[in-house]
Amino acid sequence: MHDMIAILDFGSQYTPLIARRLRELGVYAVVHPHDVTAAQLAQPNLRGIILSGGPASAFEVGAPRPAAGVLALDVPILGICYGMQLLTLLDGGDVQPHAQREYGRAQIELSGGHALLEGLDEREFVWMSHGDRVTALAPGYVSLASTQDGVIAAIAHDAARRYALQFHPEVTHTPHGRQILRNFALTICGCRNDWSVADYLTTVSQDIQDQVGDNPVIVLVSGGVDSTVTAAILLKALKPEQVIAIHVDSGLMRAEESKAVMASLETLGLTHLHLVDASAQFLEGLKGITDPESKRQIIGDTFIAVQDAELARLNVDAEGAFLAQGTLYTDIIESGASGKQTATIKTHHNVGTPLVMAKRAQGRLVEPCSGLFKDEVRELGLLLGIPRQLIERHPFPGPGLGIRILGEVTCDRLELLRAADHIYLDELRHAKLYTAIWQAFAVLLPINAVGVQGDGRTYGSVITLRAVDSIDGMTADFHPIPFEVLARVASRITNEVPGINRVVFDVTSKPPATIEWE
Ligand code: XMP
Repeated sequence: MHDMIAILDFGSQYTPLIARRLRELGVYAVVHPHDVTAAQLAQPNLRGIILSGGPASAFEVGAPRPAAGVLALDVPILGICYGMQLLTLLDGGDVQPHAQREYGRAQIELSGGHALLEGLDEREFVWMSHGDRVTALAPGYVSLASTQDGVIAAIAHDAARRYALQFHPEVTHTPHGRQILRNFALTICGCRNDWSVADYLTTVSQDIQDQVGDNPVIVLVSGGVDSTVTAAILLKALKPEQVIAIHVDSGLMRAEESKAVMASLETLGLTHLHLVDASAQFLEGLKGITDPESKRQIIGDTFIAVQDAELARLNVDAEGAFLAQGTLYTDIIESGASGKQTATIKTHHNVGTPLVMAKRAQGRLVEPCSGLFKDEVRELGLLLGIPRQLIERHPFPGPGLGIRILGEVTCDRLELLRAADHIYLDELRHAKLYTAIWQAFAVLLPINAVGVQGDGRTYGSVITLRAVDSIDGMTADFHPIPFEVLARVASRITNEVPGINRVVFDVTSKPPATIEWE
């Protein structure tokens, strides 16, 4: 059994990152709701507890607190931001709102050596994101570092094995944050750092066998990384004849996508593999529709209808079968299964179709990636032999190109977008930018523009290029693609795709924009 650090989630958008950083260090970390009970936490492999940040003020009535007995567990505790304020108040110190709210980058100065800050320079940059401050240390605590204007940035009570940071070590804006988490987990908690996704595979395979037994499992493979890895895990854990994979080609896929998906699923050794070409049905449903929400609704409903028809055609005992889907750890944390403290809004989760809801209610939903972050899913996918090209693919929304064609979705407009998108991604790969970017795609606008090509005036379509950097799609910054790459993409698209005479680049972040245009 691997050593484990438990993270109590008080609602910071960064909470999942704490777990992710620890796992990158080889330490197994699990996020719990902030009010998880001491009995639930008191596993034999528990080595430490981290209290996350959060939007509340620790001194307010009703501010979230750990459950009774949690802080008395005999392991070291690290409070981060809100967690520091909480520890301070509970241990008899004081916390006040700070007149000058100091968000963002700050410089701290260390006041002496301490195991928690081992390996750091005397002065370090860190990332702050809370208005409240510790104004009086609780008895037994000493200050380990403070900012230039006197804000206490790190504290420790060695005898009680309690430690806290005002800033966020888990974000990359705190350059040595990872070192601090390492110091806490390995030195202070004494964790062994021997966890890897291969261990996850062993555990989850056993869980799947226990859950599913000899029953069939249906997996709907969209072609995205998560559902493909889900199928691969099922194959590893079960007999091939138990795994029924269905891929629906909605006609809203990128160039050559369905072909690539089918090919990679075949190499994995899937024997029950079914491709349903439903493009005509999707296009028919979308005829004349321009409203984004109506499009999403129609696409979602059509998926359900097509899947149901295929299951009936295959004569699968849909009642008795299990259903697998590629839900990720972040989906679980964000949708509130872990405590519903997160103040961020995320609207896209694995959809609650009637089939999914029924299977969940029956305990017949299998979600083998639900303990993993996106990067870990990718790593596991490679381990399971899925081609790198597929693993590294950018996220792709369920409604596909349907929400990247603004206005009506027609066969001709799909062809235009597919061709432009293909050129864009091709050039990004050539420029070695593709894997550095979180998500990039082309969007077909619902307007025409005047141009001149050859001797004649044209009145053609406009393509916009989008590229964003993000952690999990909740917020995003546009990626500054070098001008020469943009110029090459624009030149190739206007030359190679008849009907497009203008290419623009989207420089908005999320918020205020969303990543997709619809
Ligand atoms: P937005 O546009 O909301 O997108 O900023 C955030 C991330 O979610 C993806 N996305 C979807 N994924 N079904 C999905 O499976 C959807 O309906 C959907 N809409 C957006 C989007 O591509 C981005 O990665």
